[in-house]
Amino acid sequence: MTRDERRAALEQIANEVRACSACRLAEGRTRAVPGEGDPDTEVVFVGEGPGFNEDREGRPFVGRAGGLLVRLLASVGWRREDVFITNVVKCRPPDNRDPEPDEIAACAPFLRRQLQVLDPAVVVTLGRHSMATFMPGARIGQVHGTTRPADPATGAADALVFAMYHPAAALRTPALEHESLEDIARVPGVLQRSRDRRAGAAPGAEPAGPPEPGVHDPVPAPAAQPAEASAPATPAEPPATADGASQLTLF
Ligand code: URA
Repeated sequence: MTRDERRAALEQIANEVRACSACRLAEGRTRAVPGEGDPDTEVVFVGEGPGFNEDREGRPFVGRAGGLLVRLLASVGWRREDVFITNVVKCRPPDNRDPEPDEIAACAPFLRRQLQVLDPAVVVTLGRHSMATFMPGARIGQVHGTTRPADPATGAADALVFAMYHPAAALRTPALEHESLEDIARVPGVLQRSRDRRAGAAPGAEPAGPPEPGVHDPVPAPAAQPAEASAPATPAEPPATADGASQLTLF
């Protein structure tokens, strides 16, 4: 697909999302939030569902959690417009409650189709509900900061999935914000590994299929100077990546 074809396909899905009435969330929404970003990106971030601000603007992650997501991206030298950002459910659950299983199921075809169009190398899940879609049975406290191959049934045909805490949880708990900075520092390295897998350059580097539930594949910490190996990543200084570059260019 060309960039223009991808953009058109994503816009078609977005229009269907805006017209959707497949579940009860449609009744309470101000605006549906299909997602947005670069149609040519290699990295897709998947959150839970729109909140108050997203519902008003029709755009994902524009509130406080979005502010933290932008800071996390900046810590690895990326901008929100470099990636694609979407959610498991595209309409705001009332009072920001968790999405119900039937609402997630009703919305799943949209996410699957977005991933089929984008064909990302990396899917980053934000929070429990997004993680559960890509790592069924996993526990966020155990798998955040780790990766596993995406099940192609998700729509991501050849991707690595990387789990992170939800930025809203990280805003509530400073320790989780710190862990989120450490986690996102690994994402450029995961992208490089996924590129290598997709190019067939690293045979055997990943298990052939999805691992057993509960089994995960920790990503080694980015290659840093020995003295800095345990230093947390900071927004001011992106961490070194496995290939030694100070940051990994997305495209
Ligand atoms: N939280 C989410 O999960 N998604 C958004 O778009 C905003 C907040």
